[in-house]
Amino acid sequence: MQTIKTIQSTETYAVRQPVLRPGLPVTSCVFPGDDDSTTIHFGIYEKDSLMGIVSVFENPNILFSEEKQFQIRGMAILPEHQKKGLGEKLVKKAEEYVNNKGGELLWFNAREVAVGFYKKSGYRTIGNPFDIEGVGIHYVMYKQL
Ligand SMILES: CC(C)(COP(=O)(O)OP(=O)(O)OC[C@H]1O[C@@H](n2cnc3c(N)ncnc32)[C@H](O)[C@@H]1OP(=O)(O)O)[C@@H](O)C(=O)NCCC(=O)NCCS
Repeated sequence: MQTIKTIQSTETYAVRQPVLRPGLPVTSCVFPGDDDSTTIHFGIYEKDSLMGIVSVFENPNILFSEEKQFQIRGMAILPEHQKKGLGEKLVKKAEEYVNNKGGELLWFNAREVAVGFYKKSGYRTIGNPFDIEGVGIHYVMYKQL
């Protein structure tokens, strides 16, 4: 059975590194604000095995007017566990957390290849695509909660 648990920022590196920063040192997996009191990291497990991660930061984007905004970062599922519904479960968990915190909007920079995945969970793109150096083309995506 799968369980979703709150984890430490350092525990995300086991998935961030191979999936989001392949070939780069583990220092590239450290995100600013990872250890802020308003940041939370979730891991999805099968028994003791970590299969995927997502992090939620309280962080406004000037594109939006909502007072309490949260950002998803570092959404990743290990390749052997992708396309089994785990990513969708982590997005739902992030939404549940943001709702409980009184958040009104959830946004993130989505890799072009993942836009279709997020659209299935009701997220919309806004604005033009932009390049994040070394990672590729991204879109801002969002959902009002
Ligand atoms: C993108 C990612 C997080 C999706 O997680 P996942 O567990 O593989 O996705 P799920 O199985 O929960 O998919 C949910 C739905 O989205 C679809 N989907 C999954 N990945 C997709 C993609 N890249 N493009 C379009 N649709 C996608 C699934 O087919 C499924 O649809 P269905 O319900 O009609 O069957 C995961 O594949 C991943 O880690 N990719 C590499 C890293 C990455 O791109 N992260 C996002 C950074 S913004």
